[in-house]
Amino acid sequence: MELQGKTAVITGGAVRVGKAITLALAEAGCHVFIHYGRSATPALETQQAAQAYGIRAEIYSADLNDATVVQSIIPAATAAFGHVDILINNAAIFPEEDSFTGTDLALWDELFYINLRAPFLLCQAFAAQRPSDRPGCIVNVLDARVRRPYPDHFAYRLTKSALWQMTEMLAHELAPHITVNGVALGAILPPPGKGQDYLDNLAQARVPLQRPGSAAIVAQNVLHLLRQDFLTGVILPIDGGEFL
Ligand SMILES: NC(=O)c1ccc[n+]([C@@H]2O[C@H](COP(=O)([O-])OP(=O)(O)OC[C@H]3O[C@@H](n4cnc5c(N)ncnc54)[C@H](OP(=O)(O)O)[C@@H]3O)[C@@H](O)[C@H]2O)c1
Repeated sequence: MELQGKTAVITGGAVRVGKAITLALAEAGCHVFIHYGRSATPALETQQAAQAYGIRAEIYSADLNDATVVQSIIPAATAAFGHVDILINNAAIFPEEDSFTGTDLALWDELFYINLRAPFLLCQAFAAQRPSDRPGCIVNVLDARVRRPYPDHFAYRLTKSALWQMTEMLAHELAPHITVNGVALGAILPPPGKGQDYLDNLAQARVPLQRPGSAAIVAQNVLHLLRQDFLTGVILPIDGGEFL
């Protein structure tokens, strides 16, 4: 897909990996609808940075825990832009305590609502608004760790495993007009509260390429998937070989 003049919704598009994707799309000439949850000030800053590329950028707050609110996102974007060509399901939560024994029902529900139900509802709404003769693209942001069935981050892994499966299922379901791909991230950014040193040391020990990735590398690969019109159902690991 040629990105110039297209319109994209990016969930969690105001900060960190989502911000890098938003700004890379804007730099490529794509109008951006930046969804955010709590990051109101960063959303305004990202909106201004996107507008500096000469495209239209809108911001929209929606709590992904709330199904009704989630279902308002695509209609709000179509009201702003007329239609949506691209959906990037980036937003997710990654709780520190999420073991088999330590995950209570409230945390389980929150993880599944935000990390899986919200992308499902957004894909549904996105597909429903696409004219059947115009191409569309979905990219889901996944986690490369689910390639190995270790029990850490128990419920989080299950949400991302299901989203991985949903990516492949929707590649079938939404063909031929909508491509559905994913990027599966490894060590990209340190978790909140941890510095770059933490990630560098972790990558040195665990990643074959002995260095972490970056949000910019993720954004480049998302744009690559969007531009390739013969790729669908592709999950691109961006993990420096960590989960081979
Ligand atoms: N960072 C990594 O190295 C890494 C590794 C593997 C996979 N990933 C995946 O890559 C993606 C981005 O990672 P990241 O580290 O940039 O994530 P992050 O810093 O944790 O940001 C998560 C985003 O999700 C949004 N969000 C969370 N809960 C929400 C809610 N209830 N309602 C609305 N928005 C909500 C946040 O929006 P607000 O801030 O506006 O609330 C934020 O923009 C995620 O899908 C993550 O699982 C990242």
